Amino acid sequence: MSNTDWSQASFSTTAVRAGYQRTAEGEHSEALFATSSFVFDNAAQAADRFQNNAPGNIYSRFTNPTVRTFEQRLAALEGAQSCVATASGMSAIMATCVSLLQPGDELIASDGLFGSTAQFFNKYLTRMGNPVQFAAPDNIDQWREKITPRTRMLFVETPSNPLTKLVDIAALAELARQANARLVVDNCFCTPALQRPLEHGAHVVIHSATKFIDGQGRCVGGAVLGNKQDMGDEVFGFLRTAGPTMSAFNAWVFLKGLETLEIRMARHSESALSLARWLEQHPQVSRVYYPGLESHPQHQLCCRQQSDFGGIVSFEVVGGRTSAWRVIDSCNLLSITANLGDAKSTITHPATTTHGRLSDQQREAAGISGSLIRVAVGLESVVDIQADLQSGFDAITNL
Ligand SMILES: Cc1ncc(COP(=O)(O)O)c(C=O)c1O
Repeated sequence: MSNTDWSQASFSTTAVRAGYQRTAEGEHSEALFATSSFVFDNAAQAADRFQNNAPGNIYSRFTNPTVRTFEQRLAALEGAQSCVATASGMSAIMATCVSLLQPGDELIASDGLFGSTAQFFNKYLTRMGNPVQFAAPDNIDQWREKITPRTRMLFVETPSNPLTKLVDIAALAELARQANARLVVDNCFCTPALQRPLEHGAHVVIHSATKFIDGQGRCVGGAVLGNKQDMGDEVFGFLRTAGPTMSAFNAWVFLKGLETLEIRMARHSESALSLARWLEQHPQVSRVYYPGLESHPQHQLCCRQQSDFGGIVSFEVVGGRTSAWRVIDSCNLLSITANLGDAKSTITHPATTTHGRLSDQQREAAGISGSLIRVAVGLESVVDIQADLQSGFDAITNL
């Protein structure tokens, strides 16, 4: 199979093999190029590379073979022409906006976004001269009403963090096309193992590789994927100059993560569905947010758009913030930490952590109440995860 055309290969094979060119040493696992710069044969070659007249590495802020392998493998998995790896998910979002928007261009984003993304839009993007509006992910008419002649980007997370609201990617992509805007999808919750937004018409895909792509909570990283022109001329051009590029070591860890992504996402999804069903009938739980449940208002859309439902389950406990904190504090197995996508299950109180910097009004508009808990279901036995949460529920009933 050619090293560049993976379009006909299965997801599993692509995840393990794509993008790598073995070195003369004959190593089996991908080589880690831990070097900040590269040596030239002579001064003329250096000059040619610097002037873009000859291919080849110069400096790891620009390109690095380990990072390139990660980029090519993720691009093959997303069905993208091109991928640019970044230092974090947030730098992927920053690079996308800074390089693809002109001053005065407007952005519409889904409400209920990850807290730092919302903060970046509200505080920094607007300061750079790009007005931002928010619209409900599940209401396309609201997006249509907010589009102006200056709208150039629609930005969504689907499913959203933490309420798992979905956006109909195909419908919004059509609206973006009519408005001559790009649709950018943060695919962090699903990864290409469950959802490939470009196939539904999106223009750009964002990842926080920190999450499921790593899969074991070790490194921070991100990626932007799309067509060659956007990625090469704009996003890569910005990154190599401004600097928030991915380190070779992190790329190597993420490559190993990609190899097991498909089987991990299947297990995360299976356990999360089982946990969501259990929570739905629990007397201490007033509402469960999980798109795999038939009661989720966008369950049908989820079945069309995703190949499985993912590993994030959010729920509201009876008794407000006091009860939510008590449940969290009573857990012994689940880790109280804001990361997600780890083999270890994590439990978070979004209103006071990931979404704590939003104003009360913004949080209320996003539907993030004090009684809300988010669980990122890991790879432990779901029986043990349930037992741990039950000890939290017992702590409320024994108040
Ligand atoms: C949906 C989503 N997008 C982006 C990010 C930012 O990623 P990073 O922490 O790698 O910068 C996060 C982090 O939690 C996230 O949940």
